[in-house]
Amino acid sequence: MQLEAQDLAQAVIARMADCKEPRLKEVMTSLIKHAHAFVQDVQLTPDEWMAGIQFLTAAGQMCDEKRQEFILLSDTLGISMLVVAIEQAKAAAAFKPEAGADRPTEATVLGPFFWEGAPELALGSDLSIGQPGEPTYYHGRVTDTVGKPIANCQLDVWSGDAEGFYDLQKGPDAPMALRARFHTDADGYYRFWSIRPTFYPVPNDGPVGNMLHRLGRHPNRPGHMHTWLQSPNHESLITHLFVSDSPYIDSDVVFGVRNSLVVDFAKHAPGVAPDGRVMDKTYHTCHYDFKLVPKA
Ligand SMILES: [Fe+2]
Repeated sequence: MQLEAQDLAQAVIARMADCKEPRLKEVMTSLIKHAHAFVQDVQLTPDEWMAGIQFLTAAGQMCDEKRQEFILLSDTLGISMLVVAIEQAKAAAAFKPEAGADRPTEATVLGPFFWEGAPELALGSDLSIGQPGEPTYYHGRVTDTVGKPIANCQLDVWSGDAEGFYDLQKGPDAPMALRARFHTDADGYYRFWSIRPTFYPVPNDGPVGNMLHRLGRHPNRPGHMHTWLQSPNHESLITHLFVSDSPYIDSDVVFGVRNSLVVDFAKHAPGVAPDGRVMDKTYHTCHYDFKLVPKA
């Protein structure tokens, strides 16, 4: 039987009648409806359709163990941040704050540069030894939303170097750098040294970079320290600490900035740092307290 253009979406959806996975069926039904509506909306031509296929093919071919072009695509289209925001809203709604409870720390994108298995270091360690950059002392406390300290909370941290490049971008044999894992002390405190992260362009030598260029968009992210907090009795939190005076703080290419995550990296003259370390050069401090939602 012949199907008219306007009936195609419904026909595809009807073919999924026997799907045994309700959520998959729900997601695919909506995807098909919106994809067909999009094609109708822009009256997509065969050449444009083929260009789209070739773009996605190139994005896939760009991916390997250390390069994730699809995360980059999702990030730069704002979809990663939308998924984060929806999840964050659910977590916030599920949490019934007692009187005086604080808002949980906001989440942001994971990004394409997480590397599983960073070395576990003692609190106070400097993970930037041998790396150029402005030394920065990161410190604060991890609590739940009513201020109860979270001991032994795992804190993964990672950032790019002084030029904005992550270890993962430095060739197939490059070792891990500027990433580590810590655990909070018995009172929920964490502290470590690294560098003050600089702004950087997302990898833009592939199809996503080409897309940004053709759309007249810059490829830059403001300076930020990635953090991932995990504790058995609390919702895990993937977020960043953004450098308040970084270029691009108002136009992050992946739309990840949240006002509550923008931190003043205070600058200090040489002297004794808060942990007693004697600094012979200018350094910064970044103080931030994380608040996690207890698991239901
Ligand atoms: Fe990053």
